Order: sequence, then C-alpha cells, then structure tokens
Amino acid sequence: MPNTITTDYLNTTSFKPNLFQDKVVLVTGGAGTICRVQTEAMVILGCKAAIMGRDVEKTDEIAKEIGLLYPDQGFSDPVIGLGGIDVRKVDKIKEGVSKCIKHFGRLDFLICGAAGNFICSVPHLSPNAFNSVISIDLIGSFNTVKACLPYLKQSKGSILFVSATLHFQGTPFQSHVGAAKAGIDALSNSLAVELGPWGIKSNCLAPGAIGNTEGFKRLMKPEYLANASERVPLQRLGTTRDIADTTVYIFSPEASYISGTVITVDGGLRHIGNIF
Ligand code: HXC
Repeated sequence: MPNTITTDYLNTTSFKPNLFQDKVVLVTGGAGTICRVQTEAMVILGCKAAIMGRDVEKTDEIAKEIGLLYPDQGFSDPVIGLGGIDVRKVDKIKEGVSKCIKHFGRLDFLICGAAGNFICSVPHLSPNAFNSVISIDLIGSFNTVKACLPYLKQSKGSILFVSATLHFQGTPFQSHVGAAKAGIDALSNSLAVELGPWGIKSNCLAPGAIGNTEGFKRLMKPEYLANASERVPLQRLGTTRDIADTTVYIFSPEASYISGTVITVDGGLRHIGNIF
C-alpha cells in the first residue's frame, strides 16, 4: 500500500465528492506519513489545507504536491505550506495561523499531528529528551489549539489529535511518547467538555500498527516482521488509507455527535496486546 493517496480515492470511497467544499483544515506534522495522507483525503474531497512544519522546503514541496489533488484546479493555492514553524514556539504558531486565515479567511478543522519520537530505555532517557517529546507532542498540541481557538469558535470547528495505542499498555522504550499521548487523550477530553458549548468538537485518533510508516519501521521488532499481520485480530496491518478514511468520517457531518472520544484504528489489536 503506497503512502500517499491519489484522486483514485474518489472512485473507491463511499464519501461524496466535495464533502468538504468551502472548509479549511490546518495540519501540524502534515509533511509526515500519516498526517500527509489524512490531508490528501480531505483535499480530494474539496477541503483547502494549510500544512505546518519545521522544514520550510519540505513543507512547501508537500503542500504543492497535495494541492494537485484539489478538485477545482481553477482555485490557486488550495494547499499552503506554513514552514519554519516549531510547535514549541507559540509566537511562530500564531504567525502561521494568521497566514492561514489571511489566505483562506476561515478555519474549520484542526489536525494536531506534529510528533517526535525515538526508541529509548528509561535509564538512557535524559530529562531533556523526555521533555523534548512532551514539549512537541503534548505542549505543542496545546499551543496549536490555543492559537486556532478564536477561528474554530467562529466556525464551530472540530479538532483531531493524532494519538497512539502505546499507552494503552506499558510499551517498553516509549515512556516519553506514552506519557505525551496519554496527556493528549486527557487534553482532548477536557476540550470536548469545555468547548462543547461553543459547538467545537475534540477527538483523538489512535492508529495501531500501520504498515509502511515511519513509526512502524522504527518500532517493529525485526523478529515480529514475518508474522506481523497474523498477530492482528483482523489478520492484516493497518494502512494509511484506514487512517485517512477515519479522519474523513470524524470531520464529516455524519460524526457530528462524536466528541471526547479516542477512536482506535487498530484492527482490534489493543485487546490482545501490542504488536511492538
Ligand atoms: C535518546 C535522544 C535521541 C535518541 C534525541 N535524544 N534523540 N535520546 N535516544 N535516539 C535526546 C537528545 O540527546 C537531547 O537530550 C534531547 O533528546 C533533545 O534532542 P534534540 O535533538 O536537541 O532536540 P530536537 O531537535 O528538538 O529534536 C526532537 C526529537 C527528534 C524528538 C528528539 O527526534 C525530532 O525532532 N524528531 C522529529 C521527527 C520524528 O521523530 N518523527 C517521528 C514521527 S513517527 P540531551 O539530554 O542530550 O540534551 C512517530 C510514530 C512513532 O512519532 C515512532 C516510534 C519510534
């Protein structure tokens, strides 16, 4: 399964074309594998998008590539890159969000996907290393929500955090990420309750073992690779398309009563343990 989706999505999905016409999504980490595919599906279905990332060139390049999927090629720059932004820097995020609003005039959806990760045992994990991951994944998500809040309030928007299943059990060598993602789940629940009266929804998407992604490559033990699929109750690894489809659903009107939920997309794996 390739790590990008194409306009063929329109022929194979049951979501209707132009589902997200006139809507705008802002994505942090949009240049990474999972968030890129989430953005692609949204754009194919008519959503305009702003992608925030640390690397200017990479962010711009991927924004251009995803922009080619936008159905109305008469609209110039349906996907913009907001490069040079580290989610740990509040002022930079605010600048990026302002650019998004200046360009598109509104913001409906937010995907908080910016993340940092590496495998490390607790004895080797320095306080600064732990702090770095918490700062990017958890505090960075909070910073982004704060900067977007006035615009999400106007549009009665929807927030989706890219979480994980690592913290459902204790996953070794992932104490830093497990702690960050557990915090994200808790943050999302509080936002759902506090912001619900404004019409804003907040949810988490927790991908399981999604094949052919950076996370999978880094986390998967080589000895498990051969029979990885068989370990999943549904007998296959997840695909980035599975994540994209769930993302489209959660932002669709059909999910309008879903808030404060962690939607786990893992083929049932969490109930028997962790593939990693
Ligand atoms: C142990 C490490 C380390 C490693 C960095 N550190 N890499 N410790 N093992 N492999 C420590 C450093 O020594 C330093 O601590 C501290 O972390 C901060 O490192 P910096 O490089 O100064 O920080 P920064 O530039 O901010 O980098 C943040 C990062 C980095 C999280 C450490 O890996 C990063 O930016 N990653 C972004 C891309 C990424 O990882 N994406 C993954 C997405 S996939 P000291 O004490 O020395 O100062 C994903 C799915 C799951 O998230 C993936 C599963 C693995």
